[in-house]
Amino acid sequence: MTKKASLLFAAAILFFAGCTKRSDQPATASTENAEESEVMQKNVGEEIPEEPNYSSLLLDVLAKAEIPQDISLKIQESMAENSDFIQDISGILQDDPYLWILVDKEHSLPENYEPDDLVKLKKGSYKVNKNGLSLRNAAAASLEEMAVAAKSKKLTLTVSSAYRSYKYQTNIHKRSIKTLGQKAADRGSARPGYSQHQLGLVVDFGTITDAFAKTAEGRWLLANASSFGWSLSYPQGYEKVTGYRWESWHYRYTGKELAKFIETYFDGIQQYALRFLHEWVQATALPLQNDTEKNINS
Ligand code: DAL
Ligand code: ZN
Repeated sequence: MTKKASLLFAAAILFFAGCTKRSDQPATASTENAEESEVMQKNVGEEIPEEPNYSSLLLDVLAKAEIPQDISLKIQESMAENSDFIQDISGILQDDPYLWILVDKEHSLPENYEPDDLVKLKKGSYKVNKNGLSLRNAAAASLEEMAVAAKSKKLTLTVSSAYRSYKYQTNIHKRSIKTLGQKAADRGSARPGYSQHQLGLVVDFGTITDAFAKTAEGRWLLANASSFGWSLSYPQGYEKVTGYRWESWHYRYTGKELAKFIETYFDGIQQYALRFLHEWVQATALPLQNDTEKNINS
């Protein structure tokens, strides 16, 4: 088990072990000799370090992540019942950090961040709208799996945009400002460094217009994408939360575990779940893998 996983499991065990304080435990009858007895005696007088209070940590993280009351209560109830929530967090945080890091209006990627496992998308079970589109390996494989399932329902998914470098995002953001003006551009186009597309884990499907939501593909994705590990980043009615207007076409690959976590605990709102994980990692000071640390939390 990695150090990070051990920390999380330790946290879970401490939390669910509840209030059993070693200092409250009576000396057992098996304390047979004087030496042992003396040690016990000494320990009784010693100050036992206080166990961390994980239920207060949870409340703190929920508050810092600005999770709405109804979702927050649901999570607290689930924590009171069993350890599933903690175990899910543990599993997710052991996965590739780029699947769960927060990239939003306030959290950016460095200019030079470029995934090292990008693969070119070729026409497969899905269509590609232009040449040269690429995604990270795992996202491309998952896209194919999802497209096969869509095909079985006689639907063809179309990829219109995928990985975008910092430089590419700079150009399209500039173009958007020129056409729409700064304010309108900022509602639908991320500044360079702040786009999830730079992760190589995002696909814009179909027409990239609101009309996409009403198409059979748009409806199918909304209902099924999460079971393949994809999550709608900018849902309808959440501009104040995500910072972006509704984008029925923009899906981030998070892996199946995190996609399920988002649906189960955060009402399908990716921004809430990623903000929660961001604050959880900060609060528990978990070390991150490889060089991810320098690429996040900016
Ligand atoms: N349209 C999304 C916000 C982006 O530019 O990344
Ligand atoms: Zn997009």
